[in-house]
Amino acid sequence: MAKDKLRVGLIGCGGISGAHLPHLSSSEDVELVAFCDVVVERAQKKADEFGGQVFDNAEEMLDKVELDAAYILIPTYAHGAPERACIAKGLPFLVEKPLGIDPADLRKLAKEVEASGVITAAGFMNRYRKSVNRAKDLLQNDPAILMDGAWIGGPPLVKEGDYFSNAPIGQWWPIKEKSGGQFVEQVIHTVDLVRYLGGEVTEVFAYAANGFNKKLPNLIPNYNLDDAMVVSMKFAHGGVANIMSCCSAQAAGGVFLNVWASGHNSRFNDWAHHVNIQQAGQKDIEDIRGDIDDIFPTEDRAFINAVKSGDRSGIRCTHADGVRTTLLALAANESLETGKPVTVQY
Ligand SMILES: NC(=O)c1ccc[n+]([C@@H]2O[C@H](COP(=O)([O-])OP(=O)(O)OC[C@H]3O[C@@H](n4cnc5c(N)ncnc54)[C@H](O)[C@@H]3O)[C@@H](O)[C@H]2O)c1
Repeated sequence: MAKDKLRVGLIGCGGISGAHLPHLSSSEDVELVAFCDVVVERAQKKADEFGGQVFDNAEEMLDKVELDAAYILIPTYAHGAPERACIAKGLPFLVEKPLGIDPADLRKLAKEVEASGVITAAGFMNRYRKSVNRAKDLLQNDPAILMDGAWIGGPPLVKEGDYFSNAPIGQWWPIKEKSGGQFVEQVIHTVDLVRYLGGEVTEVFAYAANGFNKKLPNLIPNYNLDDAMVVSMKFAHGGVANIMSCCSAQAAGGVFLNVWASGHNSRFNDWAHHVNIQQAGQKDIEDIRGDIDDIFPTEDRAFINAVKSGDRSGIRCTHADGVRTTLLALAANESLETGKPVTVQY
């Protein structure tokens, strides 16, 4: 029988918790009962605002508090133990992207999660946008032949107002061994759309630009990322894609993805993924704003409804699916290391 109120706990109380908490806390069918962060003051701050118990260890939280669902909102390098703590308790979880940094452990974890049967969702929220799903519908009968996309931003700098030097994420994002790098940590949203729209990718080959940001006098000291990457991909169905990252552009930047098929194209731009769709032989351009969807609430609602009802059909990205996107992004790093094309091992 469906429960009236789900008891939800958070594992990780940093920046992205601020995207999920406003509507979780105002949802009548959700009760926030526990907060966990290895920096316990961050969990305490959330508990002060929303109520609930405070922990610095996920296993202990799950042992001591009866939960119906968990949110895992932790850095790339920290995955594994919190997910395993959830499946040990049979606890459904929503996990933010990327889903891990070690491909071998990720494949193992994905099998353990699947075997547990728990309801899961991965935080690729763009899959819930109307713009994205309109493009996906068109691609069913007119598949993508080419995709090109990019996520262009500036370097993390020691200066007032810089997101990275003034937030906890600055302690791990600029370190490739911890975040996976910009391509894995950030551009993974575009990589996920490549898979969601185009199907499975079988092979990748990557080049990187390095050494440009290092010349900046105010670069955040722990930075060791690639300044830019170009990653070529081959789809199982025969199409190709080229996806790029850049964290070196101080003048301007942006997010875009172009999807080129025989009879139409879809051109996405901005973090909100507005889309312009053009059909061959037609002058009119279909224009769908990405921000007509309040996207984090939509993603959270799909997960909460699935946990309440047991019907997972509304979840657009499961842990298993999110792992595949993460493995694809990590394969680009492997290609950089080996200097060779890499067959993606899912
Ligand atoms: N969907 C999106 O658009 C989006 C946007 C921002 C961040 N994210 C993702 O969310 C994740 C977290 O990012 P963030 O910006 O919140 O980072 P953050 O550094 O602000 O917060 C992460 C928090 O997790 C805590 N933590 C680390 N290991 C932990 C563990 N084992 N148990 C409990 N807490 C632990 C840290 O102390 C920190 O407070 C990242 O993977 C990031 O890519 C997604």
